[in-house]
Amino acid sequence: MADKEQVRPLAPASIRPRSDDEETALYLKKSHRTKCIKCCGCIAALFVILVIVLIILIFTVFKVKDPIIKMNSVKVNKLDLITGTTTPRPGSNMSLTADVSVKNPNVASFKYSNTTTALYYRGTAIGEARGPPGQAKARKTMRMNVTVDIIMDTLTSNPNLQSDLNSSGLLSMTSFTRVGGRVKILKIIKKHVIVKMNCTMFINLTSQELQRLEHHGKSDESLSFLVIGDWGRGGLYNQSEIAFQMGRIGEKLDIDFVISTGDNFYDNGLKGVNDPAFQESFTKIYSQKSLQKPWYSILGNHDYRGDAKAQLNPMLRKIDSRWICLRSFTLNTGSADFFFMDTTPFVDVYFTDPEERVYDWRGIYPREIYLNNLLKDLDSALRNSTAEWKIVVGHHAIRSISHHGDTQELIDQLLPVLEMNGVDFYVNGHDHCLQRISCPDNRIQFLTSGAGSKAWRGDDKKHDKCAVHFFYDGQGFMSMQLKSTEAKMVFYDVFGQPIHQWSVSRMLHSEM
Ligand SMILES: *[C@@H]1O[C@H](CO)[C@@H](O)[C@H](O)[C@H]1NC(C)=O
Ligand SMILES: *[C@@H]1O[C@H](CO)[C@@H](O)[C@H](O)[C@H]1NC(C)=O
Ligand SMILES: *[C@@H]1O[C@H](CO)[C@@H](O)[C@H](O)[C@H]1NC(C)=O
Ligand SMILES: *[C@@H]1O[C@H](CO)[C@@H](O)[C@H](O)[C@H]1NC(C)=O
Ligand SMILES: *[C@@H]1O[C@H](CO)[C@@H](O)[C@H](O)[C@H]1NC(C)=O
Ligand SMILES: *[C@@H]1O[C@H](CO)[C@@H](O)[C@H](O)[C@H]1NC(C)=O
Ligand SMILES: *[C@@H]1O[C@H](CO)[C@@H](O)[C@H](O)[C@H]1NC(C)=O
Ligand SMILES: *[C@@H]1O[C@H](CO)[C@@H](O)[C@H](O)[C@H]1NC(C)=O
Repeated sequence: MADKEQVRPLAPASIRPRSDDEETALYLKKSHRTKCIKCCGCIAALFVILVIVLIILIFTVFKVKDPIIKMNSVKVNKLDLITGTTTPRPGSNMSLTADVSVKNPNVASFKYSNTTTALYYRGTAIGEARGPPGQAKARKTMRMNVTVDIIMDTLTSNPNLQSDLNSSGLLSMTSFTRVGGRVKILKIIKKHVIVKMNCTMFINLTSQELQRLEHHGKSDESLSFLVIGDWGRGGLYNQSEIAFQMGRIGEKLDIDFVISTGDNFYDNGLKGVNDPAFQESFTKIYSQKSLQKPWYSILGNHDYRGDAKAQLNPMLRKIDSRWICLRSFTLNTGSADFFFMDTTPFVDVYFTDPEERVYDWRGIYPREIYLNNLLKDLDSALRNSTAEWKIVVGHHAIRSISHHGDTQELIDQLLPVLEMNGVDFYVNGHDHCLQRISCPDNRIQFLTSGAGSKAWRGDDKKHDKCAVHFFYDGQGFMSMQLKSTEAKMVFYDVFGQPIHQWSVSRMLHSEM
């Protein structure tokens, strides 16, 4: 404010010399030589003072200072994904909104024509945005929102992305903002200024991929449940026979719930929430009384070949209230914590060589970020778990001697997280068999229950690293009974006959 007042005296000051000149002319007419000399001295002194004042002003108040631009915050807008179609798309774009402010320290306004903001990830341009022209008033700050679209393919194809996300979960990017404009003071002093700003930003891509569910079981903290996988074929391939035996065993064990390890509907998942396959392969097949319990389910690779979101849609619960299917989630019960993992997106071949198959990857892209978040969420959820038993459920096997064998992506990425956090069981489907495997380098029991319908594939490989305690190539299912000190698992065949069982007690367990 004080500065503004300082401006005013200057304008009259620049006129004053002229009026002084007129006065001088009068004196000159009187031809008083001495007075003239005195006067000339006066004028000279005035000029000197004036020049000094001007110089001071030019170097202080009127000096054109560069505007200051500042990046206040950056917000990640929601990833835009196509809806209403099952067509996979190679990638989707992410957009960021940066809150940029331009502070104008000058006593005159700063007019800028255009602003550009470019984003770089490790030196590669991944997005650019242009802001509209504007004006920052004298001594004022102008704020604007600049939206930058990031070309996701450029970002995800960068070989460094994975390791960068691994180490911190933060995506580090640099931005370069350029604002070009003009500062004009009193129509006399004009200056073109270009202000540039380099900014390093860290975007926290952590998100909660794991939803939390709770199951309150029996008062004595014991828990029993059945595990079935790879089943939905309208009752064919012994699916109905298995369902019948599950009902029988379920009643005997007074089960709390059923776990489905995925590949719920063959061949290509559900076509939509109204697909009759849901009732024909699920509701009408598993109709016995003891199976009228929650079915905690995940998706398999075949489910991704249909409308994957349909199976996740809570609308299905209106048709059959048992159906609880999420991509990934934790299920906390008294003595055991379950961690359901969406393993299909881990498998490279579905992305690199899908053949004629079409996968519904909505909600998965950008894949690296999805998987990274999932692993980190699992890690923190496992660390947080204080339950006696930690059970991870996925569709794909980590260890298997059947048709598909080990899943290398899971050995590389998922297994280290399980080993680090003392997981007791990894339960999966995918291979249409029953098997129990353990390996020398960890205490995890690898249990496959993927024999809900079509089986008898005839594959039976050897495992060069792990011990195969049991393998059965035909149809069947698994039961588990947990107490705080004891866990017991049983495999059953199509006649409901126990064909393998194994148990471990907490005492023995902690010694291992
Ligand atoms: C993503 O950005 C690229 C480059 O700007 C554009 O060609 C492409 O159409 C965008 N994709 C989507 C899904 O908006
Ligand atoms: C900014 O605007 C000027 C004209 O107003 C134009 O010549 C220049 O190319 C623009 N710069 C950018 C980076 O768009
Ligand atoms: C920028 O966006 C934020 C939140 O989206 C909003 O509150 C703010 O008013 C916007 N600023 C401008 C200058 O549009
Ligand atoms: C990043 O994590 C993935 C999966 O957790 C792993 O396969 C990869 O080797 C890691 N990369 C680095 C550089 O740590
Ligand atoms: C700012 O970024 C631009 C573009 O990446 C680069 O050319 C320039 O050298 C950087 N300046 C500074 C001071 O880092
Ligand atoms: C990222 O965000 C998550 C959830 O909002 C938070 O738990 C985590 O601490 C953040 N990470 C960093 C490095 O700020
Ligand atoms: C059904 O189970 C029986 C007994 O294991 C078996 O002999 C038969 O081949 C199975 N049917 C099919 C289609 O797999
Ligand atoms: C850890 O467990 C507590 C209590 O069960 C829960 O409130 C919290 O949200 C959990 N945190 C994470 C990261 O899962």
